[in-house]
Amino acid sequence: MATLIDIKTFLEQFPLVGKTSPLWIQKVIENFPAFVADHAANERKASAMCMDFVVRYPDHPSLVTTASRIANEELAHFRLVFEEMKKHGYPLLPDQRDVYIRLLLEKVRNDPKGRFMDRLLVCSLVEVRGIERFEILSTEHPEKSWRDFYTKFYHSEKGHGHAFFHEALKIFPEQEVIDRYQQWIQIESDVCQKTPITGKFH
Ligand SMILES: [Fe+2]
Ligand SMILES: [Fe+2]
Repeated sequence: MATLIDIKTFLEQFPLVGKTSPLWIQKVIENFPAFVADHAANERKASAMCMDFVVRYPDHPSLVTTASRIANEELAHFRLVFEEMKKHGYPLLPDQRDVYIRLLLEKVRNDPKGRFMDRLLVCSLVEVRGIERFEILSTEHPEKSWRDFYTKFYHSEKGHGHAFFHEALKIFPEQEVIDRYQQWIQIESDVCQKTPITGKFH
């Protein structure tokens, strides 16, 4: 049985390599309505990605429980962002492919077991990068109302990366998960470097 660890230990044990560039927050502020629309799209896509786990892996009840719970939370986040956009008169924008996610998914292994583990670990890391960026917004956005808005997101997203990592630990051998996660931390950092900073979420 794998050793399960708490959120704080998880975040301390597996820190991201490479912090988000200060240019990112600058671009976000310059393009804020487009950034918020991209954030809304990311919440919707995160919810769909969780439900995809439910469809693909129905024989893993713990994962189905966790993924469907997080799908619900991400959909609620989408609604929160959308309601805030309406208050500010910000429009939803046509869907765009996310370069960061595309580059990460290119590195997912092709065999069924590798693919399953990698998808869980990618979801975990995307969530961890997300909270790093919510934290930046929660301290660096020039308007208090938006700092408060993103503080709430930071807290409600904080457990997601840990949850996907734990599901991987429940399904695959502990050391394989840890070794692959260390590789993914490096891959994610490289992908972050390669992703142009445009003022989108990623
Ligand atoms: Fe979310
Ligand atoms: Fe999340």
